[in-house]
Amino acid sequence: MGLGELFSRKQSIISSGILQGATDCHSHILPGVDDGLRSLEDSLEVLGWYETSGISNLWCTPHIMEEVANRTADLEERFAVLRDAYRGPISLHLGAEYMMDANYGRRLASGDIIKSIDGHVLLETYSASPFAPALELIRKTLDAGYTVVLAHPERYRYFGEKELGMLHRMGVYFQLNLPSLTGWYGEGPQRKAGLLLGNGWYSYFGSDCHRLSAVRDQFLKKCLKSKTVSELQSL
Ligand SMILES: [Fe+2]
Repeated sequence: MGLGELFSRKQSIISSGILQGATDCHSHILPGVDDGLRSLEDSLEVLGWYETSGISNLWCTPHIMEEVANRTADLEERFAVLRDAYRGPISLHLGAEYMMDANYGRRLASGDIIKSIDGHVLLETYSASPFAPALELIRKTLDAGYTVVLAHPERYRYFGEKELGMLHRMGVYFQLNLPSLTGWYGEGPQRKAGLLLGNGWYSYFGSDCHRLSAVRDQFLKKCLKSKTVSELQSL
C-alpha cells in the first residue's frame, strides 16, 4: 500500500493507528543474518508488537553488501524457519536490502537478485555517499529491467531535492523510514522526510527495525501506536 493511500485513510480510523492494514516493506527482523535481530525469540516478540499496530504485511529485508554477503539460498532457508515458527496474523515476505556496492554490481550482472515489495529491488547507500555512483547503479538496475525502490532517501546527505527529483522522474520509488519523521536520525533527515512527504514522492514506508528494544522501549513503540502523521512528527 502506498503511503498516500495509507495517510488519506487516517480520518476514518478512530480507534486504531495509521498502520492498520498497512505493509511494512523494510525490516531487519530475520534473525542472525545481519546487524538486525539476533534470535528467533526476539523476532517473534517484535512481531507481537507489530500485531498491536495492525500491520498486515511485513517484509524481511536483510542487508546484502560486501561486508554482509548473505547468500540467497541461506536467506530463504532462514526465512522458512521464521515463517514456520510464527503463528500470528501478519503475512511475512522475504526481500533484501542491497547496498549499492561492488557486491551488488556482481549480483545484478549474474541475475542473483531477491525482489522485495511489488517485485521491486530495494536499494540503499551510505548516508555520506556521493550521488553519482548511486545514480550509475540505479541506471544499470533499471536497464536490466528491474524497478527500484530507494530505501530511506531522506537519510542521504548528498541527495538533495534536485537529485531526488531526478530519480523520481526516472521512475524510482521512495521508501520512508517511519522513525525519520520523529527526528530519530536527526534534524536533517526529519526535515527532508517532511519535504518528500509534502511533495508526494513516497510510495512505501518501512520501520527499518533492527532491535527488539526499538519496539519494546523506544521510538518504534510510539510509531506503532500513532494515529496520525502529525502525531508521529511530534514524537
Ligand atoms: Fe535497512
